[in-house]
Amino acid sequence: MPLGTGPTPVRRLDGLVDGVDLWLKDESRFGDGAWAGNKVRKLEWILPEARRRGTRTLFTVGGIGTHWGLACALYGADHGLRTVLGLVDQPVDDHVRQQLARLEASGAELHRYRNPTRLKLAAPWLIARNLHGGRLPWYLPAGGSNAVGSLGYVETALEIAAQVQAGDLPEPATVVTAIGSGGTAAGLALGLRLAGLRTRVFGVVVNDAFALDAPVIAGLARRTAGLLTDRGAGELPRIAAEDLTTSPDWLGRTYGDPTPASVAMVEKATGLGLELEPVYTGKSLAAIADLADTLDGPVLWLNTHGPR
Ligand SMILES: Cc1ncc(COP(=O)(O)O)c(C=O)c1O
Repeated sequence: MPLGTGPTPVRRLDGLVDGVDLWLKDESRFGDGAWAGNKVRKLEWILPEARRRGTRTLFTVGGIGTHWGLACALYGADHGLRTVLGLVDQPVDDHVRQQLARLEASGAELHRYRNPTRLKLAAPWLIARNLHGGRLPWYLPAGGSNAVGSLGYVETALEIAAQVQAGDLPEPATVVTAIGSGGTAAGLALGLRLAGLRTRVFGVVVNDAFALDAPVIAGLARRTAGLLTDRGAGELPRIAAEDLTTSPDWLGRTYGDPTPASVAMVEKATGLGLELEPVYTGKSLAAIADLADTLDGPVLWLNTHGPR
């Protein structure tokens, strides 16, 4: 279901990090005027699958500032779906407060919990009480990172391959993205392999609420391949943990907490006309800056932020 417009542009990114042949794929341009970034990529696949399943209610989870939950609520409503959100407390700043106000105004049914364990215990009750017309809600994990949502980034990888073939960018040795729930990195790892590129995913883990290491991301990539196989794509390559790199070294104290390095990168990027944020994109750029001497280039960095 086309919601955004691809391919998103690629260009060389000079002046941000010294010592790296750095390129940008600008996912912030994958918009429909209202929204952009990686949520829209995932919803393009999740919404038609919801329709195929006869889903009436989406049930998903996130922090109290979740952009994914808000995107789900608004796009879901546009397509006749109710959204139930299980929200977990996170560090509160002005942005999170505004985001919570948007969630409250979105029409979604909100349930707040102090920590992920309490949400997990309440989830069966939340699902059971939202049985409508004999149908259970479709549970979507945080960030829309199930096999269906990850297809959005399989498609992005195929876009990258086409852009390499067209001469718009050199074949990247490394593609760098933030990992918040894993669907972006998993979809890329699978899609790059399907496209026959040698590009390796380097994922900067910015969430400590659950495990997001290379075995977990590779597992999601394999489930995504399994979904494609089930839908008729034939046997696909098997992604293993060794096929990608993940690191939590730029997380800082916890999810949602900006680090001085991420704030500095956001400021520097603002000077170059990029609108970023310090929780995902700032941390992934901080990683590139610290690894300038060791990352294999060319390096393609994904700006996954979607201002709205
Ligand atoms: C701006 C931004 N970048 C990157 C990510 C990470 O993507 P994923 O959740 O697929 O790991 C997210 C969401 O979690 C995000 O909001």
